[in-house]
Amino acid sequence: MIYLDHAATTPLDSDVLKAMQPYFNKLFANSGSIHSAGQEALAGIDKARQQVAHFLNCETNEVIFTSGATESNNLALTGIVDASDIKKPHIITSNIEHPAILEVVKNLKNRGVEVTILPVEHDGIVNTNVVQKEIKDNTILISIMYANNEIGTVQPIKEIGELIKKINEKRKNKIYFHTDATQAAGYLNCDTKSLKTDLLSLSGHKIYGPKGIGVLFVKKGTKIKPFQYGGHQEFNLRAGTLNTPGIVGIGEALSIVKKNRDVNNKRVQHLRDKLIEKTLKEIEGSHLNGSKTKRLPNNANISFDKIEGESIMLNLDFEGIEVSTGSACASGSLSPSYVLLALGLSHLQAHGSIRFSFGKENTIEDVNKTVEALKKIIKRLRLISPIK
Ligand SMILES: Cc1ncc(COP(=O)(O)O)c(C=O)c1O
Repeated sequence: MIYLDHAATTPLDSDVLKAMQPYFNKLFANSGSIHSAGQEALAGIDKARQQVAHFLNCETNEVIFTSGATESNNLALTGIVDASDIKKPHIITSNIEHPAILEVVKNLKNRGVEVTILPVEHDGIVNTNVVQKEIKDNTILISIMYANNEIGTVQPIKEIGELIKKINEKRKNKIYFHTDATQAAGYLNCDTKSLKTDLLSLSGHKIYGPKGIGVLFVKKGTKIKPFQYGGHQEFNLRAGTLNTPGIVGIGEALSIVKKNRDVNNKRVQHLRDKLIEKTLKEIEGSHLNGSKTKRLPNNANISFDKIEGESIMLNLDFEGIEVSTGSACASGSLSPSYVLLALGLSHLQAHGSIRFSFGKENTIEDVNKTVEALKKIIKRLRLISPIK
């Protein structure tokens, strides 16, 4: 099998598994218990919190463990709105966010929140000047993803963060800045001080960590309300018994990412660039979607004229090559990707797109085999395609 779907999820790193294992049975106690066994579990959590804080360059009490990026995004957006004393608060986001942002925003709009959804340029990048133009007196929150899950485009988060900081110096009601860094965390610098973010979401299973665990960074002094009530865990912001193995796993996964990032990025980028170069050269009517340079090192999203992405994906699957059409959450639905439509692609072009996302276990042989398989499949599909 050649797995090229790391943007959907990654395998668990063997060192992460090793770190987690004792916490399933031997060190199973509730980290909230006062007895020694509880304190041992708490020590594992404390270590992980330090690892996460080190990764984000923040304090340990600014790290909130959640069940994943979906929950982190829900807590960030709903929590800021609920804590605001502005009568009709306004929030800004972009039209290529993951559904874990866009659906929350839709829900907030139904509750009376004013919403601005920004367009992106043809290369899939948000323009900072456009962000600035949309800021109003009642704006309380701007949420822009760090990197896109379908096309891998990287947004100017630091530039937007600096802009918001400057604007905040001159206004009474603060604008909070949130970024969904779920796809970025494995590849990009997530130093919250340099990015100037107040809130940042990430998830374990995209970075060779476990599924069902995530982080929300919440900067000290942020006015935010919980949306689930119960115990006093996570500084009163996220009630519920802590998922010790998951937390230990995400801490370990992030410290491995930080240690190996430069080497790993170079490797996957080389494979990704080879795939793009060979595909665009050897397959007529193939086009790269999204900025060529401002994108994650492991992502290639390519449209193939006159054929359906679903058929390409299924044919590649028969050959043992796993890829994706659009995001995993959208696969199975027949509507074209809203992210590709946002770039200005036609419905036809958007339907013919495949996302290849590389990971640390891929090799150059994987690239060569994939391009050879693609050439054969696309030739065959075009022969039988009703689209001329
Ligand atoms: C950009 C982005 N945000 C949020 C999520 C949701 O993450 P989780 O599966 O951890 O809830 C994903 C997952 O695909 C994602 O890619």
